[in-house]
Amino acid sequence: MNVTWVQGLPEGDEKGTFLTLDLGGTNLRVCKVTLLGQGKRDVEQEQYRMMPEMKTGTAKQLWTYIADSTAQFLKTYKLDQKYSTNEPLPLGFTFSYPVHQDSIDHGTLTTWTKGFDIKGVEGEDVADALTTAFEERKLPVKIIAVVNDTVGALIASSYSDPESVIGAIFGTGCNAAYMESCGSIPKIDRSKGLKDDQLISINCEYGAFDNAHKVLPLTKYDKQIDEESPRPGEQAFEKLSAGLYLGEIFRLVLLDLEKRKLLFTDRDQDASALKHPYCIDTGILSGIEDDETPRFQKTREMFLELLNIFLKEYEIEFVRRLAEMIAVRGARLCSCGIAAICRKKGIRSGHVAADGSVANKHPKFKRRWRNALAEVLDWKEGEDPISMTSAEDGSGLGAAIICAMELKRREKLVR
Ligand code: GLC
Repeated sequence: MNVTWVQGLPEGDEKGTFLTLDLGGTNLRVCKVTLLGQGKRDVEQEQYRMMPEMKTGTAKQLWTYIADSTAQFLKTYKLDQKYSTNEPLPLGFTFSYPVHQDSIDHGTLTTWTKGFDIKGVEGEDVADALTTAFEERKLPVKIIAVVNDTVGALIASSYSDPESVIGAIFGTGCNAAYMESCGSIPKIDRSKGLKDDQLISINCEYGAFDNAHKVLPLTKYDKQIDEESPRPGEQAFEKLSAGLYLGEIFRLVLLDLEKRKLLFTDRDQDASALKHPYCIDTGILSGIEDDETPRFQKTREMFLELLNIFLKEYEIEFVRRLAEMIAVRGARLCSCGIAAICRKKGIRSGHVAADGSVANKHPKFKRRWRNALAEVLDWKEGEDPISMTSAEDGSGLGAAIICAMELKRREKLVR
């Protein structure tokens, strides 16, 4: 439960021009966001491709890549001519990994998640490291906020939908954020002068729930994923429920059954393509569940193309059922995280502003998530008081609004 120092919700009159950076798994997304007030905005963006090797590279490579991409963006949009190091462009850095923050513009990475394993970043202040790289290039930008994607989703969505109560990501990772009153947060230093009723956003980081492995039942495949991951023992909940892992669980089951000669048993059937870790994207699972073609032709083609495997009738039935079981467990777990926040805060109605590939692309995720939430929270037939909405752009719009809110707050302090 990380305090993010995002204080209060946006009022809708936030204005200004901001740069936002979002480090995803495959791209760096850079946006110039102009907030025009009354919920209006203008966004210009570019994506800079991140080499897959960088995920396990060095800190130097990471910061160089981000700073060089930022420099390129500033040049393309002529922002380097408009701003200077004396009057820099305020920047919101969406960094969606667990960070410990003592203030909104700093954050120390606790541990990498989602398969990242870049050396020399854990235990370091990511804002300081990035600022150094900016300074080396004399870039006219200044980090105002280090933002988690869940918080960005919550704030961006609250900007246009006041019923948003939780920001959630059901994607490569799995996590949520909500607003808490300072009086209920023992870890906040009371000497900082924050009032008890001041709302502040909490990044739950509940992907790390049950890292002690005491609560959730694990299959041997879950254990294998954990053991073979860069951070065994960590993100226990996420490894059962997030998009990065669903396809991998599926692969491990198939591989195991193939080894035990229960699947793909024909002599001319070569299933060696199954041996490549993480070769099955969660999108494949969605595709299988979504397949309504006669005799599941689409599923057959996917298996042939991706894995060079010819599926027999009973194998098709099996892979369909397997894809379903893995996705159902994931969706039901995802609802537990949200239910826990609702119970803790006594939230009885409102919107869960969600983003991420699983929420957006899996055909049955939303319904399963909703049904599980209804079970946990004991809703009556036909009730739907807490529902999932599509989050507004958290890492662009959200990060920009957070910068605007923070600058406004600082201005008030000076006055
Ligand atoms: C992982 C990260 C968390 C992020 C989530 C969704 O759980 O640790 O910070 O919010 O993925 O991207």
